[in-house]
Amino acid sequence: MSTPASAARLRVGIAGLGRLGRRHAEALAFSTRHVELVAACSPVAAELELAAAEFGIAPEHLHADFEAFVNDPGIDAVVLVTPTSLHADQTIAALRAGKHVFVEKPLALNVEDCERVLAVAAEHPQQVAMVGFVRRFDPSYRRAAEDIEAGRIGRPFLVRSQTCDQNDPQGFFVRFAPTSGGIFMDCSVHDIDLARWMLGRPKALRAFASGTIALHPGLADCGDVDNGLAIVEFEGGARAVFYASRTLPHGHETTTEVIGTEGTLQVGFGAARDRIERRSAVGVHHDVLPDFFERFREAFAHEMVDFVAACRGDKALTLTLSDALEATRIGLAITRSLRSGLPEAV
Ligand code: NAI
Repeated sequence: MSTPASAARLRVGIAGLGRLGRRHAEALAFSTRHVELVAACSPVAAELELAAAEFGIAPEHLHADFEAFVNDPGIDAVVLVTPTSLHADQTIAALRAGKHVFVEKPLALNVEDCERVLAVAAEHPQQVAMVGFVRRFDPSYRRAAEDIEAGRIGRPFLVRSQTCDQNDPQGFFVRFAPTSGGIFMDCSVHDIDLARWMLGRPKALRAFASGTIALHPGLADCGDVDNGLAIVEFEGGARAVFYASRTLPHGHETTTEVIGTEGTLQVGFGAARDRIERRSAVGVHHDVLPDFFERFREAFAHEMVDFVAACRGDKALTLTLSDALEATRIGLAITRSLRSGLPEAV
């Protein structure tokens, strides 16, 4: 059904045109309905040149300065794909400038910053504020959640979930690590959000973590590891186990298992890139997904569609800022435990 709000195309500006920002920009410019990518912001001149050349953004809507960007009267909404340490302040500035906001995960690297964002969002209830927990938009995870909701595995009580990236010998993430919050805040935050979603949003009580550096000693400078393990205990008896790695030799493997009293569900095992299996004298082989983007390409597309729909008043979001705050709260307890070597209260 078409409403007056949905008659016009949503005018969106993007901040950050790095590894992921370019992908979001492509989706907004070329493959998402009811939206127009009209502005871009980056402190890097080459990225603004790319925004003009690739996405046809007019010179008056190319901004090196974030304040000028959020106050651009030509945009209704912003998509923030900037370093995590900037998310909270940029989200607040955009909400105060009257824009809808999509901000990449995690919302912030401390609970106080998340709470500041929630408070400002509450002052602007007509504006959408959405955090990019992309797995919530993945068709397989959605079906798993529907199965659980319908009681098909009984009462879910245990989630085992991992986010493991292929080793990058160039060590991109070693440079990225100091602003990312560490491996648990950067990678496991997705698994944390998933666990809360699949377990029905129980209150987290306690976390324990350990980790090791297998290949990238540079991470020690910021107290990070390239392989981390964590256990989280929830009120009511549910538990979650997380594994995050930067060093898989063969490809990207995001997998989740949800264990219930009457069955289990597994999502993503095998990490096959396509449906081809090759058999020969040396064995049976399939190609492996190279990275998170290829695994979640479809989910990233759905995520933008749902953001645009929410801004236009066509569809409500089920993912909330409180979910993002809780994911940060749990991720921080895990990170404290990694450093202290002791169980930490959430
Ligand atoms: P990146 O380092 O490749 O890109 C960051 C971008 O932000 C660059 O274009 C940089 O020029 C721009 N930037 C820096 N300061 C800025 C400012 N003050 N104003 C505007 N732009 C500014 O990083 P990447 O990998 O693209 O990550 C960006 C965010 O996306 C991070 O928060 C990360 O956690 C998140 N992310 C989410 C993923 C997911 O699965 N949902 C996957 C990868 C990243």
